[in-house]
Amino acid sequence: MKRVIIFASGAGSNAENIIRYFQNSKKISVEKVFCNKKEAGVFNRCKKLAIDCEWFSREDFSYSNKILKALQKETDFIVLAGFLWKIPENIVAAFPNKIINIHPALLPKYGGKGMYGMHVHNAVKNSGDLETGITIHFVNEHYDEGGVIFQAKTQLKVSDSPEDIAQKIHILEYEYFPKLIEKTILKDGN
Ligand code: GAR
Repeated sequence: MKRVIIFASGAGSNAENIIRYFQNSKKISVEKVFCNKKEAGVFNRCKKLAIDCEWFSREDFSYSNKILKALQKETDFIVLAGFLWKIPENIVAAFPNKIINIHPALLPKYGGKGMYGMHVHNAVKNSGDLETGITIHFVNEHYDEGGVIFQAKTQLKVSDSPEDIAQKIHILEYEYFPKLIEKTILKDGN
């Protein structure tokens, strides 16, 4: 059984979708969720799903080995599902090609520090682009720059609001993210 720990910072709809997808899997188990925001919606979702959701501080994550040690003991893969902090180098180094992120745009467009959630959809709207999508990629020490695993596109209408764009992105995320996590984890050599 390959173990997965999910990191989330917000509503947690992707985390919930991933947890549900693997609920009856014989090969992959979601062990728990780590969250850096005490008021995040993901706590409630995990409660309903009977999955442990644990808060951690900036100190735990970036300035000590506390989270690194927990991860080394408790998981094989890390999935970032709407997680907004940069992953510290000690964790990246300990999990090479074993940290998977989803970004709500077609990287390298609309990536980097500060580009998350509605900021991305607002930027896409303001650009006038009539196409956007999702990027599932490995995490390295730079924001949104690790190797791309998968991208999917969606077409936009001129009249789409940033909220409409967010909705189109969520549809792609829910369809593809769990399947690509599964495929990546079960690939030969992993
Ligand atoms: C998702 O759209 C995810 O792609 C995005 O945050 C949202 C979280 O929604 N992630 C980023 O922007 C990372 N740079 P959720 O909490 O409902 O899953």
